[in-house]
Amino acid sequence: MTDFETISVDLGSDGLATLTITRPKALNALNEQVLTELSQALEDLAARDLRALIVTGEGRAFIAGADIKAMMEMSADEALTFGHLGHSVMNALQGLPFPTIAAVNGFALGGGLELALSCDLIYLSEKAKVGLPEVGLGIIPGFGGTQRLGRRIGWHHARRLVFTGATIDAAEALRIGLALEVFPADEFMDKVRDVATAIASQGPVAVRRAREVMARGAELPLEDANRAEVEAFAGLWDTADRAEGMAAFVDRRDVDFQGA
Ligand code: CAA
Repeated sequence: MTDFETISVDLGSDGLATLTITRPKALNALNEQVLTELSQALEDLAARDLRALIVTGEGRAFIAGADIKAMMEMSADEALTFGHLGHSVMNALQGLPFPTIAAVNGFALGGGLELALSCDLIYLSEKAKVGLPEVGLGIIPGFGGTQRLGRRIGWHHARRLVFTGATIDAAEALRIGLALEVFPADEFMDKVRDVATAIASQGPVAVRRAREVMARGAELPLEDANRAEVEAFAGLWDTADRAEGMAAFVDRRDVDFQGA
């Protein structure tokens, strides 16, 4: 993996990778460089045999949004290009072939929340604060927030958050279903890693297939989505992991998945 200036990628040894935004002086704000480096890292990660990816931020923020100072100088054409770049990063993250976990350690505002919403699971530190404050800057969320927030938590709460630009704390994010769980700050990353490890201990091919079917199915009529599910279900029969998983159960022994 290339060396980056504004992000770091730890590939781990257990199939669990961690991607950290490392621009803490600007609260990890997303400028063109961060987005470009994210894009390169995600392309690399997509080709690896990983079981899960954790995304987090260095310092007291997850990501405090798109870089306002950089956006201030942009023309409308440049804003369009910047918006497309942001969307391509969010789509690349959402399109990874393995589960992704947003470990929201602090502020996740604007583009930061949009990046978290592009992950499968969102966990918050008790110190986290989240929101889409863009209307307070005279713009709207531009990296998918107007679309992914409502799909995640329902349109009623999404409209309230977008229209008021409110920043909410972890307890409220949990209450409205934006956070899956809130963990104490001092054990936050350990708790998130426990979730990633639980995922990594399952049949890797099965997890990938389940994820694929759930993501694709959410955009399909139920009948088509259920057809995709049953095809994926039967499609797993020829995998070594399916034979091993069932044999381990019947033999009452620990399972040893090969990911094939
Ligand atoms: N862009 C650029 N710089 C940012 C930033 C951002 N989104 N957020 C924080 N920073 C910078 C600050 O300018 C400051 O830098 P300097 O020391 O050089 O002045 C540094 O990070 C620390 O920030 P603060 O001093 O403001 O820290 P704070 O604790 O007082 O406040 C905060 C923290 C409430 C998160 C506040 O920084 C803030 O409101 N940030 C902006 C949040 C925001 O509006 N995000 C949405 C951006 S628009 C967007 O994301 C559009 C989109 O959808 C694509």
